[in-house]
Amino acid sequence: MPISTTDQGWVLETRTAAYALGLNRAGLLTNRYWGVRLPTLDDYPAAPNPGIWGSFNNPSQLTPEEYPGYEDMKFVEPCLKLSFADGVRNVVLRFSSADVHQAPAPELRIDLRDTAYPLRLSLHYRVHAEHDLIERWVTAVNEGEAPITIERIWSAQWHLPPDGRYRLTHLVGRHMDEAQLRREPLVEGVKVLESRRLSSSHHHSPWFAIDRAPEAGEGPPAGEHWGEVWFGALAWSGNWKLAAEVTDFGSTRVSLGLNDWDFAWRLQPGAAFSTPSSYAGYSAEGFGGAARRLHGFIRAVVLEDGATPRKVFYNSWEATLFDVDVGSQIALAEVAAGLGVELFVLDDGWFHGRVDDRAGLGDWWPDERKFPQGLTPLIERVNALGMDFGLWIEPEMVSPDSELYRAHPDWVIHFPTRARTEGRNQLILNLGRPEVQDYLIDTFDRLLATHRISFVKWDMNRNVSEPGWPDAPGDPRELWVRYVQGLYRVWGTLRACHPHVHWQSCSGGGGRADLGILQLASQIQVSDNTDPTMFLAILEGFTQIFPPNTLHAWVADVPEAHLSLAFRFHVGMCGILGLGGHLLRWTPAERAEAAHWIARYKELRHLIQGGELYWLRKPQAHPCAALIFVAPDRSEAVLFAFRTHLPPRYPLPALRLHGLDPEARYEVEGVAGARSGRAWMQLGLVLALGDFESTVRHIRRV
Ligand code: DGJ
Repeated sequence: MPISTTDQGWVLETRTAAYALGLNRAGLLTNRYWGVRLPTLDDYPAAPNPGIWGSFNNPSQLTPEEYPGYEDMKFVEPCLKLSFADGVRNVVLRFSSADVHQAPAPELRIDLRDTAYPLRLSLHYRVHAEHDLIERWVTAVNEGEAPITIERIWSAQWHLPPDGRYRLTHLVGRHMDEAQLRREPLVEGVKVLESRRLSSSHHHSPWFAIDRAPEAGEGPPAGEHWGEVWFGALAWSGNWKLAAEVTDFGSTRVSLGLNDWDFAWRLQPGAAFSTPSSYAGYSAEGFGGAARRLHGFIRAVVLEDGATPRKVFYNSWEATLFDVDVGSQIALAEVAAGLGVELFVLDDGWFHGRVDDRAGLGDWWPDERKFPQGLTPLIERVNALGMDFGLWIEPEMVSPDSELYRAHPDWVIHFPTRARTEGRNQLILNLGRPEVQDYLIDTFDRLLATHRISFVKWDMNRNVSEPGWPDAPGDPRELWVRYVQGLYRVWGTLRACHPHVHWQSCSGGGGRADLGILQLASQIQVSDNTDPTMFLAILEGFTQIFPPNTLHAWVADVPEAHLSLAFRFHVGMCGILGLGGHLLRWTPAERAEAAHWIARYKELRHLIQGGELYWLRKPQAHPCAALIFVAPDRSEAVLFAFRTHLPPRYPLPALRLHGLDPEARYEVEGVAGARSGRAWMQLGLVLALGDFESTVRHIRRV
């Protein structure tokens, strides 16, 4: 049973892990356990009952509460902070009831109620047993007659086993340089990661992985393939906050949720407010095991089309930039089709007045000079060449030089007394406003209904400024959440009305990559950086969270003469293969080689997009990179290896394979003789690669 109720509380069990909670003697809902699954329910400890510590610390400061509100002498990070209408600013939550459902998904709901005010808070726990994950979110309901102002409402607080010392792994980055791994000790105090940018952002990702610090003395810290890792993520595409806190009493916890910075939500009488979901899990197989659990979950649960093969595509942006027209695009499409490309994507520059980035956003009809007969002649040609057609849009933005802005200057996010700061010469439509949502739904519904568009790249090319909403119906600081709710409504409605369309999330590359957006988009543009070695490093970062069938990789024209087309293709083949170079300038030999690699990708696609990923050498830490994708039944695998910045003549280290069946025998393409999986994993594979050479090897069970 994934959820068990005992006299100590509740135990949530997944394939290999368990999470236990219960009421302690003071009546506080308390974490009891999070870690490897234990043999019997009696094994899980009872809820802790800390005492007082002098006159300065009450038990509430020392209790690992599941969802602490701000009350008592509690100075740890609370999950809930609010003001009642009479000015009272604390919240005293106590257990009210619990309800367990085992189907359709196993779920525990615990209702807490304020002891003096009509506020109900439902804590939801859903168990994704097969994926070793627990999902948590909360709903606040105002059962009274006066509004309540919520100032912070997080999705969850996750408690690490008591008395441990831990390290935090997280991702940092920037435009063109996303998803760089950082690992640091957690010490007393609060480490905050967040986005205030209106999107989940290039800068930090709403994700964490925690292992034991080396000085904890409880064994070595985790590695890629071994050791204990606690990890989690937030499914939200707007402002978010992660607070990793070590209390003065050595208790470590990670809270995750909507950012409370500049946030307020007026909860009207009778109204409910639900947070986004936070997911967390435990892996005894190191960081790689944590990532594979998220990959499996995203493929099977988050994505609606997680098992559908992603097509090889060509995007003409880097070739023609804004200078698109029907002739130039057909010429590129003809070459792309000859290479074996399956999807042709027309990027920015196709719509009314879009000669450069100073005009046009908002006027979503084909530019009359570039496409005198509209997009249909191009789409028909692309389809006749045997490819699907995809189109770029940036619905949330408007250029001041556009018909839309001239008609509705009040539709953008702004403060009336302040100048409107532009980013890339554009302003942001306030998607919190229902009339803006309806306008976007109507505009893009018409576009999709009147054209054979199979794929949409949804871009977002700036972050927020002057976050005002002059005539907001509630508190103007609701903007941060209402914007994302509006975005989800627009995108979700278009998706539902056009189920054959596949969607890509892009925000200057990987600026909006999160589990929330993957409920709408099937894939993410990883980066605008198409340099292959830098791209490999960014891919490493993002694969801590996202499976390769969500990550769009580029084969572009790069200035580095030493990077062969094969190397560039091998990099692109490690995700969803996408081409971006100026194909008309590629020589016949380059085109023939491209066709070869595209055909090879199609042969191996089921492994790359659907297999289990093991990093053998991670490029952010090594002067070479290697990764293997193993079929779920372990009958075959594909290995990619890249020699990057090793000194000349320094031999590439042996690559110990992972994920194979130790008892089965496997052949590695290009290597004589079969060996047992155990031997390949124990002894490894020695490859001779020269500087900036790479290889792809199919591995088969014999
Ligand atoms: C930013 C994206 O990341 C690029 O791929 C391209 O679509 C441009 N926007 C177009 O403006």
